[in-house]
Amino acid sequence: MLNIVIFGAPGSGKGTQSENLIEKYNLAHISTGDVLRAEKAAGTELGKLADSYMSKGQLIPDELMIDILASVFDQKTKNGDCKGVIFDGFPRTIPQGTALSEMLKERGEKIAAVVSLDVAEEELIDRLISRGQKTGRTDDNYETIKARLDVYYNQTTPLKEMYEKEGILHAIEGIGTIDEIFGRIATVVDKVK
Ligand code: AP5
Ligand code: MG
Repeated sequence: MLNIVIFGAPGSGKGTQSENLIEKYNLAHISTGDVLRAEKAAGTELGKLADSYMSKGQLIPDELMIDILASVFDQKTKNGDCKGVIFDGFPRTIPQGTALSEMLKERGEKIAAVVSLDVAEEELIDRLISRGQKTGRTDDNYETIKARLDVYYNQTTPLKEMYEKEGILHAIEGIGTIDEIFGRIATVVDKVK
């Protein structure tokens, strides 16, 4: 299977570029943020718990996220009709990264590439404020965006070093048109597929 981690700060384009990847390479998409927002919309206990963290820009505890990820992965891959999986928004901590590698190993799989989208903070904030105004996504307000960025710098960026050591990190300039950025990503994916 072609398993890709799409990595980057809030607003870096993970969701946008995942849409293109799914189509071109016939992959399943696992966005942990989308999974949690769907739980919230359905009014489940998990959704309520998740919202108490998401509304503050904080991460849902690792143990819970790791269980959710494994069950969503098995559900999305059980029919064997996708060629691989895009992980969008997971992992976000070193324990999640270790758990992902273990989960894949247990299933005879591994990560082919970690595509890291580099975007300057000012551009991230502009994109997210603008999306918040258009869509009403509740964590797209200035205060929560700042908290999400802090969490990203403190808890998530250490994963870059881990993947760099493993030789699977590919840094991509995440500024430009959506098509230009996708072209850069496809060049990386075509090499590892
Ligand atoms: P999540 O939903 O993953 O949000 P995020 O990481 O903050 O990222 P976004 O979805 O905001 O941005 P994106 O990189 O997908 O960019 P997008 O393509 O949308 O997580 C939300 C919350 O859930 C977390 O804060 C946490 O609480 C919880 N959570 C999720 N996963 C978790 C985990 N593993 N562990 C613990 N907690 C977890 O683009 C953004 C905007 O920019 C869009 O409007 C888009 O149209 C626009 N745009 C995209 N590309 C371009 C471009 N090239 N030029 C101009 N505009 C562009
Ligand atoms: Mg997203």
